[in-house]
Amino acid sequence: MVKLTINGRVFQAQPCDTVLAVAQKAGINIPTLCHSEAVHDYGACRICLVEVERRGRKRLVTACLYPVEEGLSVTTDSERVTKVRQIVIELLLARTPTSEEILALAERYDVTESRFSDMEGNNGDKCILCGLCTRVCSDVVGVNAISLVNRGTKREVALPFYDDETACIACGSCAYICPTSAITLTDSADCRTITWPNSKADFPMKECSSCGTHYAPVKQLQYMAEKAHLSISEFDYCPDCRH
Ligand code: SF4
Ligand code: FES
Repeated sequence: MVKLTINGRVFQAQPCDTVLAVAQKAGINIPTLCHSEAVHDYGACRICLVEVERRGRKRLVTACLYPVEEGLSVTTDSERVTKVRQIVIELLLARTPTSEEILALAERYDVTESRFSDMEGNNGDKCILCGLCTRVCSDVVGVNAISLVNRGTKREVALPFYDDETACIACGSCAYICPTSAITLTDSADCRTITWPNSKADFPMKECSSCGTHYAPVKQLQYMAEKAHLSISEFDYCPDCRH
């Protein structure tokens, strides 16, 4: 165990813990956008910046990536931290001026406008390039249907060649995990539509052989059957009619 302080309070933690994990466990709020316990951290959004002091030297670090250590002193809400978070929010706001989540964050930190609105690369979509969708797709679902492509101001989330949804199983994990609603999922009678910032695809839904409900994407069921070594006929009935 190591001993550290966060905002003057003393904590014991495992050496493998991050500052964010210790703070969250103690109920100390540090804003996050690109962090999820479901996937590995990546440090993309920078909103979780905190100030750490080690051997008399202070610096800003991302709480989601920074490991705790003996004697570390962390401040989550100093004036310096707040100022840097406000700049991060201005950059996010410039990129995604219509995202409700980012607007709420801006309100919380008294950011009313962005000095960076005219910057190249602000294309008006809601994606903040946090990479949660691509990480959940590869790390949790295991299909790598989408990825972050291009560099610099042209960086974006995309299907292969922008329109090849072959690998996608329509599970919707990317839409559920996206912190800014940049990816949407709509289920109509017999079709699931997923809309990514630069692409859109329709997926047929499986019809229950008993009640006729279209209950899950066919591709998702095929994937589950393959992974579990089951016959696809095991999914002929929806969960309600299966019992
Ligand atoms: S689409 Fe959403 S989850 Fe994916 S990188 Fe953009 S903001 Fe993050
Ligand atoms: S939550 Fe830490 S960098 Fe995004």
